[in-house]
Amino acid sequence: MTSPPPSAQVQVRPGAAWGGTITVPGDKSISHRTALLAALANGVSTLDGFLHSEDCLNTVRAVAALGAAVRTATDGRLEITGCGGHFQIPRTELDCGNSGTGLRLLMGLLAPQPFATRLIGDASLSRRPMRRIQTPLAHMGAEIMLTEPRGTPPVTVRGAPLQGIRYTLPVASAQVKSAILLAGLYARGVTEVIEPSPTRDHTERALSAAGFPLEIEGLRIRLTGAAGPPPLAARAWQIPGDFSSAAFAWVAAAIQPGASVTVRRVGLNPRRTALLDVLQRMGAQVRVTPEPTAPGAEPIGQVTVTGAPLRGTTIGGDEIPSLIDEIPVLSVAGLFAAGPTCIRDAAELRVKESDRIAVMAGHLRRLGATVDEQPDGFTLHGPITPRAEGVFASRGDHRVAMALAVAALRIPAGLRLTDVACISTSYPGFWDHWRQLGAYVEER
Ligand code: S3P
Repeated sequence: MTSPPPSAQVQVRPGAAWGGTITVPGDKSISHRTALLAALANGVSTLDGFLHSEDCLNTVRAVAALGAAVRTATDGRLEITGCGGHFQIPRTELDCGNSGTGLRLLMGLLAPQPFATRLIGDASLSRRPMRRIQTPLAHMGAEIMLTEPRGTPPVTVRGAPLQGIRYTLPVASAQVKSAILLAGLYARGVTEVIEPSPTRDHTERALSAAGFPLEIEGLRIRLTGAAGPPPLAARAWQIPGDFSSAAFAWVAAAIQPGASVTVRRVGLNPRRTALLDVLQRMGAQVRVTPEPTAPGAEPIGQVTVTGAPLRGTTIGGDEIPSLIDEIPVLSVAGLFAAGPTCIRDAAELRVKESDRIAVMAGHLRRLGATVDEQPDGFTLHGPITPRAEGVFASRGDHRVAMALAVAALRIPAGLRLTDVACISTSYPGFWDHWRQLGAYVEER
């Protein structure tokens, strides 16, 4: 049941009560970055808490094809022996599967290599925009060929010696920022990225932890390239639980007054945690207990969310990048909140694993909500008593599938979901947790 076949239909229904304590799998963003930095480093790195999901395993296969030695140690940790920045020419194209992060970060890493690499992905990734990466990497000196006319994958990166640039990101994107910084490691001179609003800073933290100096001043990040393979230290990485995975069980508690879910050892990077502020604003109770970490590690802690009657809220501006992946599930919270819930400034959602504005607006309407869709978000009017006729399809989007599994908990007859195998791209073991916390989950 952990990973049902793509065609499987799953019936998810509420049980007697919702709640408990879980530890979620490792952070997806940090797993990609540590695999890449371990492959770049000199020596053997260990990755404790690495996310063994489809997306991250594709990145691991890519670094193995580029010459890093990868093994799983007896205690379950991933061990990567890096190439010291000297990669080998991969024998085949690199398949990034469903992962925009994997593909975009690899483009940055490959831009300074003295060979050409072709990168491919699944149908969803093959629709996602790559011009945003091509433009800065081409300014630095690499040749990036996209599939035209839409500027999507498959992508060929023909590497070259790079020159540092100063680049203001036209959209707030941690993936684009990270690709430029990875390319900048090898470049001649200074590479500076200026963000329009703060996005997750896992790459900056990981580079500092691996001993590569960065200067950060507000929204400017600056590094001086090594004009060749950068000196990066191998290290023992501790990867926290994924905040974005924990979000589903927390929102499921928030919409059921009195229900309570605790997640242990979850990542609490302040550029990822805006969901907790929003849930509090909506009326849920949130208790955060930070836990001690090793030097250079990402902040972690234990978080308990307890449900209460909710009220709608407006989410926009600088808050968006810090909860971009939580918007599908937050919109489900809006169904059960009094008054309008308004999401704006989130046009990026249209170019995620699916068009999350259109797909979620469609599902919320089918559940009975009035939804006004705008180019950069939507407003929905709650509270509603949802109806659940027919089958709800994820459209191959893991976060849509899990958001629907949250909505099902407030529908006595439950929801019938299909196309849920995609959940394994980010949250292996999701259905086990759903059952443990109190849902009935049956494969149909
Ligand atoms: C990610 C950044 C975000 C997020 C994605 C993961 C990352 O995308 O939506 O799931 O690991 O850097 P942006 O590049 O749009 O910030």
